[in-house]
Amino acid sequence: MAGTREPRTETHGQSIAFRVNGRAVVVSSSPLQRLSRVLREELGLTGTKVGCDAGDCGACTVLLDGDPVCACLVAAGQVEGCEVTTVEGLADTNVGGRLQRAFLTHGAAQCGACTPGMLLAATALLERNAAPQENDVMDAIGGVLCRCTGYRKIIAAIVDAAVKNAGVEDTGSAASTAISPEAGAAVGQRLVRLDGKQKVDGSEIFGADETPASALAVRAIRSPYHRARFHFGDLAAFVRDHPGIEAVFTAKDVPGKNCYGVISKFADQPVFAEDEARHRGEAVAAVVGDAATVEALEVTDFPVSWEELPPLKDIEAALATGARLIHESRPDNVLVRGRVSRGDVDEALDAADVVVTAEYETGFIEHAYIEPEAGFARRVGDRIEIQACTQSPYMDRSDIAAILGIAPERVRIIPTAVGGGFGSKLDLSVQPFLAVAAWHLGKPVRMVYSRTESIVSTTKRHPARMRLRGGCSKNGKLAALDFSADFNTGAYSSWGPTVSARVPVHASGPYYVPHYRALTRAVHTNLVPAGAFRGFGVPQAAIAQEQLYDELADRVRMDRLEFRILNALDDHTPTVTGQVLGEGVGIRACLEALRPKWKAARRDAAEFNSNAAGALRRGVGVAGMWYGCGNTSLPNPSTVRIGLKRDGRIALHQGAVDIGQGSNTIVTQICADALGAPIERFDLISGDTSITPDCGKTSASRQTLVTGKASQMAGEKLRCAILKLAGACDCATVLFNGGGVTVRDGDKSHALALRDLPLDEHGYVITSEATFDPPTSPLDENGQGVPYAVFGFGAHMAEIEVDKELGTVRVLKVTAAHDVGRAINPTLIEGQIEGGVAQGLGMALMEEFFPGKGENLHDYLIPSAGDIPPVESILIEDPSPIGPFGAKGIGEQAVIPQAPAILNALHDAIGIRVRKIPATPDRVRAAILAARKEKEKEKVDARG
Ligand code: FES
Ligand code: FES
Repeated sequence: MAGTREPRTETHGQSIAFRVNGRAVVVSSSPLQRLSRVLREELGLTGTKVGCDAGDCGACTVLLDGDPVCACLVAAGQVEGCEVTTVEGLADTNVGGRLQRAFLTHGAAQCGACTPGMLLAATALLERNAAPQENDVMDAIGGVLCRCTGYRKIIAAIVDAAVKNAGVEDTGSAASTAISPEAGAAVGQRLVRLDGKQKVDGSEIFGADETPASALAVRAIRSPYHRARFHFGDLAAFVRDHPGIEAVFTAKDVPGKNCYGVISKFADQPVFAEDEARHRGEAVAAVVGDAATVEALEVTDFPVSWEELPPLKDIEAALATGARLIHESRPDNVLVRGRVSRGDVDEALDAADVVVTAEYETGFIEHAYIEPEAGFARRVGDRIEIQACTQSPYMDRSDIAAILGIAPERVRIIPTAVGGGFGSKLDLSVQPFLAVAAWHLGKPVRMVYSRTESIVSTTKRHPARMRLRGGCSKNGKLAALDFSADFNTGAYSSWGPTVSARVPVHASGPYYVPHYRALTRAVHTNLVPAGAFRGFGVPQAAIAQEQLYDELADRVRMDRLEFRILNALDDHTPTVTGQVLGEGVGIRACLEALRPKWKAARRDAAEFNSNAAGALRRGVGVAGMWYGCGNTSLPNPSTVRIGLKRDGRIALHQGAVDIGQGSNTIVTQICADALGAPIERFDLISGDTSITPDCGKTSASRQTLVTGKASQMAGEKLRCAILKLAGACDCATVLFNGGGVTVRDGDKSHALALRDLPLDEHGYVITSEATFDPPTSPLDENGQGVPYAVFGFGAHMAEIEVDKELGTVRVLKVTAAHDVGRAINPTLIEGQIEGGVAQGLGMALMEEFFPGKGENLHDYLIPSAGDIPPVESILIEDPSPIGPFGAKGIGEQAVIPQAPAILNALHDAIGIRVRKIPATPDRVRAAILAARKEKEKEKVDARG
């Protein structure tokens, strides 16, 4: 630590008077200060969210004299004498209150980070237009980005609120209910999410929303180069010469190991780089001081000199013979290899009637959640407490303990609400900097990433370079698939090993492929680390494999959907790892559910095209998917504890972090039915490492299956314990009536005297705890074994329109059939599907991140409301024999088939395949021109 000093306090504001939510306020602020800052920090109205501070995301939307504005772009001085409405003021208004209720019943708020902005944009619309059409709604919310919902439920909620506003009471849409079902009947109900209210009224606490008043600010100094050596100047003098700066921390201030990573065997990422930064955005130091000074600091004032070094920026360069090693211990820059092999691929391909070869390439994809990483930390005696957004509190705890060199029990992780994660918030971000600073200074510290900082330093979806060869018989039976892929895993390991292991298991798709070989490598480069992003590499593989299957179907002149149905896995056919799933293989049902819609859509597209005179052509594409829930052949247990309280209420301690997908509600629904208690009896105690057992990380579509199963078991155990306490048999009924608990055994009734019973060590009358770890087995050297206990299955169909002159693609409709085993809460499942469709659409058509360029939400485009077509979800319930009430996961599954369905539709429409994804207009146009050229050449050749 270089230097310390007492923090300075300074005020240099002027009085600005305006009204907020009908109340007169006077703030002391610079007139140039952003209104969003004034609202959040001076008035405590943290319902106004900040996602970019640049007018790109719309999260900060408020009403200024009734008009929607981005509060981050409005100077405080501009609101003098005006009326400002924030989300906190909506419940008091007729339109705002209706919208909030409609958002809840439609499941329009997932993580909730965009919700305040959406509600305010919608309020402005409905105040102007009492009966808007869907297009009006899309226009009104077009400037507010949502990364979770896919917008459809938001649009439905706004239309519904408008209809009710106009005096009509019901649109007939599939809305959720806030009414509690009968005890034991929660599973299958469209219940309003239990944590929904705080998402629509602005009281939800995200990472940046709460901080001790005296907290110092932490700011990281990061490498501006992809690879650079660096030298510090006089850090002590820097602190001395900058009033307001308290300390600077570098690698030598890390008390424990200057190294962390989500998979401990591969941990390689330093808190602060030592001597050489391996990627642009890597931190080399942290400056701590009062917020105004730290924020105002010019990076060029910080005493560090950089020596830019030649980086390895792509897979080819990193694998080239003699390439410099990014990590000395990893030969050839290969982090890890994956392999699944079954049968004799080469022989089968030689014997196949038809063989198709293809190559595909995908780029980095940014998670682009609306909430940038944020949190605070404080030292409490010999313990450290960190409150921050995270998907994995217990993993954070282990890594922070190692970084500080203390026992894990001395680290408390308190997850805030998570404003979208999609995998990236599984890795540490602000936490190590906060921990080191708070530990040394003994004072609370906070850190809030800017959008650019979030984009340059956090993990991305792996770029992939894939080659494959597949063969089938004349009648369309798949014979073999030979797949290989290299993934650019960036400078550090993150989830590279998981991607390398998971992809070979999944690259066959949900089909019976008797002869199979899939080889993968995760390759280091000097780029931002690639990590987990919804699907762990499987969406990239599906882009290649599902397009290859279309090509095979075309070659044998078979309908593309029927080709998939013919080859679909069944309950008793072995997968490519030799696993026989036995029951719950719902892919055939998903594909068959699409059949009537497929036929109709194909007919409609053909009719459109036969009449088309201009540049527009339509196409229909389909793709299937499967996805194993939970870790690949590794333990991933969840433990749930529930306690019966003296007042008859039930405490549910579950450590699964709800990142918007709805696990708080799903897990409670499952537990309630297992116990036979009404859902309103439950008090949810979520994700705090001091008070909840470990439910593992929220990733890999594991929480419904694994934590859900543990909560089912814990509920059943509590029921048994209550029966035992009452001396009743197993067949007796437990009734949760009024505030009490009664056991009815035949004609005998026994009311438990809860208030008189002793409390156990957890403070409950009865506690029950259960752990579930899905049964898997290690894979052998050929990847044979049982990698997952449960798979989810699905198939999407996309109808699109292509402009051949412009190369633009518009998706007109998506139909998505998913086998979810048991739909615990259909509204939440549809929300996952629609969100997955939106992310898949972005992946197919628009999203690619280039490190060093466009590190903001202005240049990095994600789908907005106007990009998303209607989505029809079809829920298939082929129960898993293992999942709770038969349930399977849905989070990752929903994104996987979307991009290939669109890309197959593109080929269907105009006969081209874009090999480098996304299929942006320039690439589509280039492919069209190349195909034309090729045709002309063929004609010339034929003539000559
Ligand atoms: S925070 Fe204002 S538009 Fe993003
Ligand atoms: S619910 Fe819209 S960003 Fe999460």
